[in-house]
Amino acid sequence: MKRIAIFASGRGSNALSIIQHFEERAEVEVGLILSNKKSAGVLNHADDYDIAKVVIGKEDFKDGKRLLHILKTEKIDLIVLAGFLWLIPPYLISHYPNKIVNIHPALLPKYGGKGMYGHHIHKAVKAACETESGITIHFVNERYDEGRHILQMSCPLDPTDSAEQIGKKVLALEHKYFPIAIEQLLEDL
Ligand code: GRF
Repeated sequence: MKRIAIFASGRGSNALSIIQHFEERAEVEVGLILSNKKSAGVLNHADDYDIAKVVIGKEDFKDGKRLLHILKTEKIDLIVLAGFLWLIPPYLISHYPNKIVNIHPALLPKYGGKGMYGHHIHKAVKAACETESGITIHFVNERYDEGRHILQMSCPLDPTDSAEQIGKKVLALEHKYFPIAIEQLLEDL
């Protein structure tokens, strides 16, 4: 049995697609949902699916003792960032080498880095009149959005697409491919 922790700061639609994907697979379990925000919608999914949940403050996250203890107790093999806005500290990367993955709603290296999240990305893509956008699933290192790529998928954009419509197209790719990419990674662990 492989166990995943999902870190998320927001509504958690990707978390939900991952939870539902692995509900049907006996060999993988979402064992923990962690958020930096106690009002984050993602925590409702933890309640709905009876998954352990943790809200962590900045000091605890930076220090690491509490978090490493929780991850060990929950026997977590892979950490999945699904809309988690804090930078991952070096201690966590060295405890989980090539075992922390992130999804970014653009075709990196374009539209990445600090401040490039959510609607900011899709607005920038629209402003640049891009003809395509997409997703990048990548390993996490000490810098925002710079880890080794695992998978990119793109979607064509229409000149009339609004930033919101671009976001919807990209989100559909996220929900479809993130669970599959995680499943493949876990097979190789
Ligand atoms: C997604 O677009 C993801 O790519 C990005 O943050 C967003 C999270 O959305 N990293 P949700 O909370 O999963 O709905």
